[in-house]
Amino acid sequence: MTIRGTTTDPCAVRAHDLGKTYSVRGVKGGVRALDGLDIAVERGIVFGLLGPNGAGKSTAVKVLTTLTRPDRGSAEVEGADVLRNPGRVRRLIGVVAQRSGSDPRATGRENLILQARMHGMGGHAARTRATELLDRFDLTEVADRLVKTYSGGTQRRLDVALGLVHRPAVLFLDEPTTGLDPEARAAMWTEIQRLASGDGLTVVLTTHYLEEADRLAQRLAIVDHGHVVAGGTPDELKGELRGDAVHLELASGSVPAEVRAVLEALPSVREVRVAGRGVSARSDNGAAAVPAVLAALERAGMPAAAVTVARPSLDDVFLRYTGRRYTPDNGQDTPATPGTRPSGDVADTDPTVRQEAAK
Ligand SMILES: Nc1ncnc2c1ncn2[C@@H]1O[C@H](COP(=O)(O)OP(=O)(O)OP(=O)(O)O)[C@@H](O)[C@H]1O
Ligand SMILES: [Mg+2]
Repeated sequence: MTIRGTTTDPCAVRAHDLGKTYSVRGVKGGVRALDGLDIAVERGIVFGLLGPNGAGKSTAVKVLTTLTRPDRGSAEVEGADVLRNPGRVRRLIGVVAQRSGSDPRATGRENLILQARMHGMGGHAARTRATELLDRFDLTEVADRLVKTYSGGTQRRLDVALGLVHRPAVLFLDEPTTGLDPEARAAMWTEIQRLASGDGLTVVLTTHYLEEADRLAQRLAIVDHGHVVAGGTPDELKGELRGDAVHLELASGSVPAEVRAVLEALPSVREVRVAGRGVSARSDNGAAAVPAVLAALERAGMPAAAVTVARPSLDDVFLRYTGRRYTPDNGQDTPATPGTRPSGDVADTDPTVRQEAAK
């Protein structure tokens, strides 16, 4: 059984026009983390907040979980206002922060019991709930070992269990799989899916992994520079992109502006973007367009080193809306064609996007 608000609103979480600027010494005007963020999360789904490092995902979670106050805007969880009724919001939610909140010098079981006691459960109820969760999250074997001896995946499972102790209606998971190996990540994905589908929980998940968002989230909000740039189901978002994605890797020595001019002159491709040595474009028929693309680059003396044709991915969706590309291997955004990013924003001062600003 979970606690629910009394609202008839089909959304478990709503945020409207959230803004938040952190004061940072030496940074004039501070660092703008949220800039007009709007979301509406239907009850009982996994909702993904997807965005690159520094996009404002954790700040959004902190506002929604009453850990920080926004400078503007409003937010509600199960009908309870985060500013006017933070106590009620806290009873309705579970939070798994980006950094683990468990005590490494206590055992998993002790952590769970302590958490239950902090939520006002009696000793017997707390121990029973701890045993239930240890079993549920496959932690029984390690239950009486100190948390500091746990592997990363095991520790993260305990974090999720800790967030569920008081049977919340909404669970916030901030980057639940960052740093996990593929096997532990897959196990966590299964667990998260089970929470929404089996237990009817609303899960708000932040991630900078495109694949994770694609697989887990029934609905997504792509966040960049503190606001939502695109939203919908992963299929809706990908479906907005007509045709195939053509990705090229250029040989060294190519001149990005010239490459773009060469490709833009071809009728079979559109939306040409150049980011370093990577080029992407769209085509109604990618496989048919490739020979012309390769020949044109060859003629211009800037041959391609590699080419792939793919159905649209969330990576392409991100590119479409932000002008930048996530790199496939580490999920970070990469420098893109100059002039695609709005100027005068936090990226100029924010170390997490210095890579971009340095471009
Ligand atoms: N306590 C803070 N003080 C100052 N600046 C902050 C603070 N917390 C976050 N920021 C800045 O606010 C912006 C948004 O940060 P936030 O942590 O919300 O992003 P994120 O999307 O969660 O990123 P990540 O993927 O790296 O976790 C960044 O520029 C960050 O440097
Ligand atoms: Mg974060």
